[in-house]
Amino acid sequence: MLRGSGTHLGGAANVIEIESLTKRYGDAVAVDDLSLCAKPGEITGLLGPNGAGKSSTIACVSGLRAPDAGRVRVLGHDVHHERRRALEQLGVVPQELALYDELSARENLEYWGAAYGLRGRVLRERAAAVLEQLGLAERADERITSFSGGMQRRLNFGCALLHTPRVLVLDEPTVGVDPQSRVRLLELVRQAADAGAAVLYTTHQMQEAEELCDRLAIVDHGKLIAFGTLPELQSRLGGRDILGLSGRFDPPSARAALEGLRETLGDFALNTLDAHALQLAVRDGARVLAQVLAALEAAGNEVREASLRQPSLESLFLALTGKELRE
Ligand SMILES: Nc1ncnc2c1ncn2[C@@H]1O[C@H](COP(=O)(O)OP(=O)(O)OP(=O)(O)O)[C@@H](O)[C@H]1O
Ligand SMILES: [Mg+2]
Repeated sequence: MLRGSGTHLGGAANVIEIESLTKRYGDAVAVDDLSLCAKPGEITGLLGPNGAGKSSTIACVSGLRAPDAGRVRVLGHDVHHERRRALEQLGVVPQELALYDELSARENLEYWGAAYGLRGRVLRERAAAVLEQLGLAERADERITSFSGGMQRRLNFGCALLHTPRVLVLDEPTVGVDPQSRVRLLELVRQAADAGAAVLYTTHQMQEAEELCDRLAIVDHGKLIAFGTLPELQSRLGGRDILGLSGRFDPPSARAALEGLRETLGDFALNTLDAHALQLAVRDGARVLAQVLAALEAAGNEVREASLRQPSLESLFLALTGKELRE
């Protein structure tokens, strides 16, 4: 496994501590010995493809499901054993909308505020402040069935803010959101972190993770495969580009041709090589492309398509797992 230089476990500064978390559904392991932490004032991304175990992790953080092994602490309190204390400072934005169609925006907020223990004037004032913050004050008393998907998503987020939690957990909050609402939502998430909250932000979108997150945990099949800041993660690729080729390859001769170029290519990694595809992580991809193609052709391989990508989260994911994230 790969880790950034930051502390991985424990430490007083960590507001969310997930330690060797395992969650099973019957025989299927959804979260597999996963450890990570989130700090105040930072957005920690949980990035992974469909079925990677993101929502299952969030469910254990928010006390919705009990871990099969390991534990989760929020502000030092074990979510399972000291549930009330752990959860009182936590705001959760679920992947599915948790709103009532028959209520207005304000009523939805007041409903959730009451669930978080707010009453009377404080509840009304907080609901009004959150409506302002969400940019929904003018539509506050309309039933939410008249709202766009993006407005409903914003409101869904606002429901977690009423009790001004120090810890926020968001599960894919921008899915199905129009671009304008998306920008607004991401700004709201950033504001919450700037105000000092520790934010755990789940997404399958690399671009969003790159833009938004201070630190990233990349998960696949329930396992943590990388954790660190974006520069830390990118440095794991050693500044290499990803060169992808498709065509007809004879793997032994293709491998030999590349080995023959080692002096030119330097420290390269062959991520994929089969009869139809070849993928190489290599420095200065553009400079060496012509030589790679010539050497492969000379060895009897046929290249039909070539693509070159800069190191990015996508190439990191590809290099670590051998597959692409869904879009
Ligand atoms: N209630 C459940 N019962 C059985 N299996 C489940 C249940 N919930 C999730 N799973 C399985 O656990 C694995 C992880 O699912 P999870 O929902 O945590 O992934 P995810 O990363 O949130 O995916 P997505 O991006 O689709 O939301 C998947 O294989 C899923 O099919
Ligand atoms: Mg999910």
